[in-house]
Amino acid sequence: MPSARINPLVAAAHEHPYPYYAALRNEAPVFFDAEHKIWVVSRADLIMQLMQSPHCVVRPPNEPVPAAIVGTPAAEVFARLIRMNEGQAHLPLKQAIGRSLALVDTACLPQLVKKWRRAECDLHALCHFVPVAVLADLLGFAPETQPEIMGWLADFVACLSPLSRDADLARASVAAQCLLTHFTGVLEGDVPQGSVLANLLQDSEGIDRQVLLANLIGLLTQSYEATAGLLGNCLIALQQQGMSDDLPLTSFVEEVARYDPSVQNTRRFVVQDLEINGQLLRKGDAVLLLLAAANRDAAFNAKGDDFAQGRTDHRSLSFGYGRHSCPGQALAIKITTAVLSDYLAQVGMAGPMQWRYQASVNGRIPRFISHQENVI
Ligand code: HEM
Repeated sequence: MPSARINPLVAAAHEHPYPYYAALRNEAPVFFDAEHKIWVVSRADLIMQLMQSPHCVVRPPNEPVPAAIVGTPAAEVFARLIRMNEGQAHLPLKQAIGRSLALVDTACLPQLVKKWRRAECDLHALCHFVPVAVLADLLGFAPETQPEIMGWLADFVACLSPLSRDADLARASVAAQCLLTHFTGVLEGDVPQGSVLANLLQDSEGIDRQVLLANLIGLLTQSYEATAGLLGNCLIALQQQGMSDDLPLTSFVEEVARYDPSVQNTRRFVVQDLEINGQLLRKGDAVLLLLAAANRDAAFNAKGDDFAQGRTDHRSLSFGYGRHSCPGQALAIKITTAVLSDYLAQVGMAGPMQWRYQASVNGRIPRFISHQENVI
């Protein structure tokens, strides 16, 4: 039992989770939280070991889709996401997505950011709308439908959170149906030549259309809150840590992604008994992998609790590791850097900011309370 105590399921949105993470790493790096019936793992080497292990999978085998959404359109999307599958349902499409994203031409990012930041854009809209709108444009989704898509995305991501109430889940289900209908039309229509979408369609022949459809939605839903959180955490770090003008802005964004990540943890489920750090994890156990704790592990990053833009030994688990690692990492960093750069050019340093972290079991996503001087 570590000396500092926080409920690990709310630590992501806690004001100061890092002392708790440090206590876990030092005192009980593989720890069973009996109250929440979940193993909590906080050391980088152990997390990487579990993420690579075939004995740990991304969904409980007896609940491939969360019980609360079974039978709804949201379940149709969820069940087909590569993020939620292993083996053949995961690898071929994961590789195709990786290849298509690698072809994205990011030279146009500054123009795309200008196109999507609206007049009167406050910090909330800046974080929750602009990065994902830019991404959707880059992927090749028709720009004129974007505001509608953003509304559906906001509603859909509720089905990914165990904190959602019935009303949120009902909205998520409606949104899932709208997204499915919309993206079916996109696939049947004229796909812009050279876009990620066009490349992916070409590269994924033989992959079930419904699976492809769900994963196109997945590209946007998986980046929606994660990029909003990364950008928001960059704005906070600008004020709390400062930024070096001598180093590229990208190095600042990368260090924020390590130091105060928007995705603080992820889960795995044990399908075959395994021993790790002297503890026996049994088939059926759930495991919480504290990526944000691992990033500050001294054995992983020297002086991990220090914010050090441009650190030469930079290592991070913020985008996962192993077979489920994030294929959008490079793009997410570039988009966030482009939005931040544009914001700094327009507004300079943000004025006084107030925020609270959105309730979440895994996301660290600030919700800013608007101040006129921060509006573009
Ligand atoms: C700051 C932004 C982002 C963060 C922090 C982030 C983080 C992550 C993490 C931690 C995982 C692994 C989850 C696990 O193993 O349990 C992941 C997976 C994934 N991410 Fe991201 N992501 C971001 C942006 C994006 C973007 C922009 C895209 C798409 C363009 C994307 C697409 C995906 C996909 C498809 C997966 C599933 C991969 C698989 O299961 O093999 N992400 N992401």
